[in-house]
Amino acid sequence: MAFSRITAAEAAAMIKDGEGIALSGFTPAGTPKAVTAEIAKKAIAEHEAGRPYQIRMYTGASTGMSGDGVLSEAQAIKYRAPYTTNSLFRKHVNAGEIAYNDIHLSHMAQELRYGFIGEVDWAIIECCAIEDDGKVYLTAAGGISPTAARLAKKGVFIELNAFHSPKSIGIHDVYEPLDPPYRQPIPITKPSDRIGTTYLQINPKKIVGVIEVNIPDEARSFKDADPVTENIGQRVAEFLMADMKRGIIPSTFLPLQSGVGSTANAILGALGNDPAVPDFNIYTEVFQDAIVDLMMKGRVKSASTCSLSVTNEALYQIYDNIDFFKDKLVLRQSEISNSPEVIRRLGVIAINTAIEVDIYGHANSTQICGSKMMNGIGGSGDFERNAYISIFTCPSVAKGGLISSIVPFCSHVDHTEHDVNVIVTEQGVADLRGKSPVERAHAIIENCAHPDYKQLLWDYLKIADKGQSPHKLSAAFALHDTFLREGDMHLTDLSKYVK
Ligand code: COA
Repeated sequence: MAFSRITAAEAAAMIKDGEGIALSGFTPAGTPKAVTAEIAKKAIAEHEAGRPYQIRMYTGASTGMSGDGVLSEAQAIKYRAPYTTNSLFRKHVNAGEIAYNDIHLSHMAQELRYGFIGEVDWAIIECCAIEDDGKVYLTAAGGISPTAARLAKKGVFIELNAFHSPKSIGIHDVYEPLDPPYRQPIPITKPSDRIGTTYLQINPKKIVGVIEVNIPDEARSFKDADPVTENIGQRVAEFLMADMKRGIIPSTFLPLQSGVGSTANAILGALGNDPAVPDFNIYTEVFQDAIVDLMMKGRVKSASTCSLSVTNEALYQIYDNIDFFKDKLVLRQSEISNSPEVIRRLGVIAINTAIEVDIYGHANSTQICGSKMMNGIGGSGDFERNAYISIFTCPSVAKGGLISSIVPFCSHVDHTEHDVNVIVTEQGVADLRGKSPVERAHAIIENCAHPDYKQLLWDYLKIADKGQSPHKLSAAFALHDTFLREGDMHLTDLSKYVK
């Protein structure tokens, strides 16, 4: 069956107000770009004509400017799940304009299948090749594509993107689990295991049209490693090596997951460049630039990921050396890359970045001062809750020192004290394993807090009411409150809050 070629505008014309669209991709990697940009134009035209036009948007993770960016600017998104990183989207969410459901990435496909989230009317899938029987070869990410294509009631649009090399055919392992009570164990026992197909089979009757494009991926590059992030990376490496010497980590080492962002990128670089760290495997959801070189040097033996969230230069480094990468790199669906079952079986060591952590070890990955969304929880909860060792890193201060990242009480909690084993800042490492809350507070303040804020945190502990997790609720957010009122947490006067 030869599929009809249509334009992105023709596809957008078929998508009606209030309908749900599910996209391929995970981060801007592998995300369709042409139809969403046309939906944004259509929304602007409809709004100018005085007609309502908004869609519901379901994705694997974040998208780029041609997705979240233009759609949020056009006020075309009514509802959105899950993770995002786009700054324009952030602006509109924090203005209260979009219903944003920030769920664990491993949950996304199954929550769509379970009917928790809403109807999928259309799927838009980016591919590098398509066969007449509906076999589609995905590009730079696994995401939620099989579920998106299967659930789409009205049809599937295919963006056949010539920017992505068909040489990459073979790196995907497409697998969609059954739902309870029929779900089977996911048979992955090492990061490189393959359990599915190299293609996504779509019912050819559902393919409404193929849009031929040539559009680069919109992956962002991260800030270069700086002395602070390098220091954190080095401390993580030393910590893991000390655990290995003590026999806590097996001598074969364990697969690593490193989160998203500049700190995570720097940590992987530091681990890879430390000769004391043995060659390692990666079981993660985002494969960032740092891993490409480490694989080529043989430091990373194999990598399982959901997406190639790399710059286009790094992406082409992979495509140009595909014979080298093909048997070492596997791209999976997010519910497999982030599967709690697999993460726990493999003993993945999870290293993610927090916005802030509190003295008892809760971590906030998502919201600034309790109410402003940064990005979303992403896969950090999937990994940290189920890891062999769950590590959170963050610089001890933010905004040039005006904010302490170690606070009495997190202004929003994504990861509870029960899920966090280790906190690392450039000041040091707090090993929370086996410790009570009060012992944790001592370890975190002593080892991780910036010297400017240590005394303030000790003072907080002194005035806290005794208990399992001592707190003085009236002062628990004193640092945040001072920052919001006066722009500098240094100015916190705890006596004001204790009456
Ligand atoms: N209060 C206020 N702002 C803070 C802050 C705090 N405690 N800590 C960090 N920030 C700000 C920084 O100043 C920076 O702002 P800017 O963009 O205006 O410069 C921004 O947050 C990002 O911080 P940065 O230090 O550049 O961090 P990063 O690139 O390493 O990203 C997270 C950190 C937490 C935002 C990022 O890791 C994330 O989105 N995590 C959640 C998802 C996740 O963990 N996924 C992992 C599975 S792959």
